[in-house]
Amino acid sequence: IAAGDPAITDIQDWNRYLGDGVDAAPYGMPSEFEADVVRRNVAWLTADTTSSINFTPLHALDGIITPNGVCFERHHGGVAEVDPMQHRLMIHGLVEQPLVFTMQDLMRFPRQNHAYFLECAANSGMEWRGAQLNGCQFTHGMVHNVVYTGVPLRALLEEAGVKTDGKWLLAEGADAAAMTRSIPMEKVLDDCLVAFKMNGEALRPEQGYPVRLVVPGWEGNMWVKWLRRLEVGDKPWHQREETSKYTDLLANGKARRFTWVMDVKSVITSPSPQAPITHGKGRTVVTGLAWSGNGTIKDVDVTLDGGRNWHKARIDGPSLSKSLHRFYYEFDWDGSELFLQSRAIDELGNVQPTKDALRAARGENSIYHNNGIQTWYVRADGVTENVEIS
Ligand code: MTE
Ligand code: CO
Repeated sequence: IAAGDPAITDIQDWNRYLGDGVDAAPYGMPSEFEADVVRRNVAWLTADTTSSINFTPLHALDGIITPNGVCFERHHGGVAEVDPMQHRLMIHGLVEQPLVFTMQDLMRFPRQNHAYFLECAANSGMEWRGAQLNGCQFTHGMVHNVVYTGVPLRALLEEAGVKTDGKWLLAEGADAAAMTRSIPMEKVLDDCLVAFKMNGEALRPEQGYPVRLVVPGWEGNMWVKWLRRLEVGDKPWHQREETSKYTDLLANGKARRFTWVMDVKSVITSPSPQAPITHGKGRTVVTGLAWSGNGTIKDVDVTLDGGRNWHKARIDGPSLSKSLHRFYYEFDWDGSELFLQSRAIDELGNVQPTKDALRAARGENSIYHNNGIQTWYVRADGVTENVEIS
């Protein structure tokens, strides 16, 4: 504590004058001092913001829930501005009774609440060939974690009556991109939700207002926003988004297809390039996120020296299936340079791979499904950079 610190000795304005009354902000916003905590885009990644991506500011958040206003956005045809009164959800194809639901109809089915992460298959995609983007917002920010309120898709399909040869479901969005994906019926009946609330309030327009599909643990592309049509069929449709996109070209020229599950992954969110160490040596908190499309996270290990020694991190907060987990590792920093990494292990025992192991298995042509271990280099002055070590 500095003697004569004006922050202690002077009376501040906020202590001297009355503040705003209750009607100043009918819909509340974060403190003006948090104005940097926003979604950010990388201009050179896409030609046009209409078919673009921005990133969740992971480096500045804590806990497991992503606030609605900073959930990353990925649109292939911009944000559809849907009037809920004019919106319909249709079920047809191999069903006994084709059905059309209004939003009001959907609200009359029994609801469920679940926290799930949504990760774009392209998250960390720019990092396949080497360290590139300087900040976990950009390397890992195509993920968010939200409590959804919705109706099990199973309940709607039971209402329509799926015929015995109905093995696949096509989900289509009402946006200009008419996003369409095939989903196997087993997954549909297991845990998919037709959701209309996120973190307690209506879905944001960016996230698919008034209704989106929730496909827990599976790649974000399948979570169709502005959901308008569900068709039951006996085989997949081979839509653009499951042929030319969202497939992984291997070194031998063959492509992996229908790679739905988002594998076990983690990242240290602080320290990281946008959240360097500014306090000098001594008491230091390392924190990050871990998740797996296979269920819960069993363990997270942290290394300070690029993988020579691993320490068990502390998972804190709810450990929910297919949801982000928050971990911490507290240590006494001696002020020397660090090579920080985290490595997650999920409930099935899957261990997050190194980037070298991923490249050995899948080549270097891929964009999607990069769950490799991230390295942050912390310099003695606390400045932190995105690097790779092998
Ligand atoms: N649904 C529609 N209708 N249109 C889209 O462009 N983008 C998909 C998916 N659902 C998309 C969509 C992709 S690629 C991802 S990663 C997620 O929505 C992103 O969801 P978010 O914008 O809520 O983060
Ligand atoms: Co995506």
